[in-house]
Amino acid sequence: MRQIRSDIFEVGAIDWDRRLFDELVPLPNGTSYNAYLIKGSEKTALIDTVDPAKTSVLFDNLETAGETKIDYVICNHAEQDHSGSIGFVLEKHPYAKVITNDKCKQMLMSLLKIDEQKFTVINDGQELSLGNKTLRFIFTPWVHWPETMSTYLVEDKILFSCDFFGSHLATSDLYIKNKELVLEGAKRYYAEIMMPFRGVIKTNIEKIEALDISIIAPSHGPLYDEPKFIIDAYKKWISDDVENKVVIAYVSMHGSTKLMVEHLVETLMEKGIGVEQFNLVGGDIGKLAIELVDAATVIIASPTVLAGAHPAAAYAAFLFNALRPKTKYISVIGSFGWGGRMLEQFRSILTNTKAEILEPVIIKGEPTSEDYTKLDKLADEIVNKHSNLK
Ligand code: FEO
Repeated sequence: MRQIRSDIFEVGAIDWDRRLFDELVPLPNGTSYNAYLIKGSEKTALIDTVDPAKTSVLFDNLETAGETKIDYVICNHAEQDHSGSIGFVLEKHPYAKVITNDKCKQMLMSLLKIDEQKFTVINDGQELSLGNKTLRFIFTPWVHWPETMSTYLVEDKILFSCDFFGSHLATSDLYIKNKELVLEGAKRYYAEIMMPFRGVIKTNIEKIEALDISIIAPSHGPLYDEPKFIIDAYKKWISDDVENKVVIAYVSMHGSTKLMVEHLVETLMEKGIGVEQFNLVGGDIGKLAIELVDAATVIIASPTVLAGAHPAAAYAAFLFNALRPKTKYISVIGSFGWGGRMLEQFRSILTNTKAEILEPVIIKGEPTSEDYTKLDKLADEIVNKHSNLK
């Protein structure tokens, strides 16, 4: 349990050991499921809960915070890492009401089988009095799911933003201390789950910027006592601006594709372009997602396997398509042994991107001097395109 103010407590759980989220997202630094207890003069509210695996930690922390009666459980987001303990809280506090929006209510009834009678549905901007404290609900859809909302504690100027502005980071710091580490965690978080919704996030930021905020208290990672720090980072990530950088995500079976990649990397570096060479085999896919946030160009490099793209490269293309980064240029390079349909496959996967496709370089076997010349032309084209970046 960590105290924020005399009557406001962080009562969630730090998950130091978790290494994978949603069976998909790597967590090199663990994570936390923050939950907040607000004791008003008349009513007590719990804002979000924790992953069901950590329910006992939540209950211990509530006891340490001296909680005797919870009147309201505010649910900002239906995903189970925040909602998964609501059922257990309701068992202990049968008169408590779950306060959330209608979309979230429907999800909780479906995902957690919470009885409809337990809910009080609120609208965007509606307020709930705890006596001397007031909670205002701000709908912030798509950070992360369509039902996500934030809760603003009016008197204390604290925004409880749930996934919005969160970072997968297990730390004993209540407030952000190591800015670099938190920024990377927050960027990783943005890249993996929020990047596809850039447009909506812009609207959400405008909405919360209208509030006077002294603290942003997300449900993952440390709190921000300088809200501008994370709001400005988000503004940069969601902007259309890209960096003079090429991400080359590659896999190579017998070395030919790797020779192509290394040549291209060297050439681009000589020409002053930043490069991230990312091996898709055994690499931290979250790191790749981070690089996709602001790279101007993405190259997928693959050999052929059974006449098609290597599955690791196809997975990278699938991820790229799902995450919808603001990449301006994209291309494919690779080597085949006896033919294949690699380019058609990539085209059929990359349906969401608006990036301009640069001429792919697909070669037979180990690269020849002519093949290296083709890669040099691709590098020249990238340099030319990047020279026009803002
Ligand atoms: Fe932290 Fe979308 O849950």
